[in-house]
Amino acid sequence: MKNIIIFGAPGSGKGTYSDEIVSRYNMGHISTGDVLRGEIKNGTELGKIADGYIQNGQLIPDELMINILAKTYDAMPAGKGVIFDGFPRTIAQAEALKQMLAERKHDMGVMIELVVDEETLLARLLNRAKEQGRADDNEETIKKRFAVYHNQTAPLAEWFEKEGMRNTFTWKGSKEQMLSEIFAFLDKQ
Ligand code: AP5
Ligand code: MG
Repeated sequence: MKNIIIFGAPGSGKGTYSDEIVSRYNMGHISTGDVLRGEIKNGTELGKIADGYIQNGQLIPDELMINILAKTYDAMPAGKGVIFDGFPRTIAQAEALKQMLAERKHDMGVMIELVVDEETLLARLLNRAKEQGRADDNEETIKKRFAVYHNQTAPLAEWFEKEGMRNTFTWKGSKEQMLSEIFAFLDKQ
């Protein structure tokens, strides 16, 4: 399978659909949020830096994030394709990803954009707060994450459009329908 970039607001289902895609196509999966939460859990220097940004709903600085991404990508098994979940989130990260893959003679692949209304996003994240207790799943921080998404990340959709990579899937109330639309598209890649 080609590389896949899964893109969308907090709670849009990037992690959930990535898990389904990974098991159907046997790919690698890089969730930058999971990488950072792992560093925090292990009490590393990077984790200490990331913790403050995450708790406040802000993005980790680009330069730091780009280095982490490159290291994580190079540690993945070669040749299977990777799904990028939560990266890129800024134009600088997108340009860096493009360059990093070009240097390795790998293709950017396809981008999957998940579009979900904000009321549904908030309900999902508040529900996850009860089940998992993620540090950034409280209403105050969720609102900040939505604002960061609108201001810094959503404009990237146009960047992907220009690259001819943008494929949009809109939530209509059924996870099964969303998944079957995504699989129908990926089966043709
Ligand atoms: P990250 O971990 O990427 O969080 P996020 O973008 O806020 O997204 P979530 O993981 O909350 O949601 P998701 O889209 O994965 O949805 P999910 O499948 O879980 O990033 C966290 C933080 O790390 C950032 O704020 C930033 O500080 C930092 N960071 C990470 N990457 C960075 C980068 N590149 N640059 C700088 N900083 C970075 O679904 C949500 C919930 O909904 C789940 O509980 C799920 O079970 C449920 N759900 C219910 N119904 C459905 C349905 N029909 N479809 C999908 N999910 C459903
Ligand atoms: Mg996630």
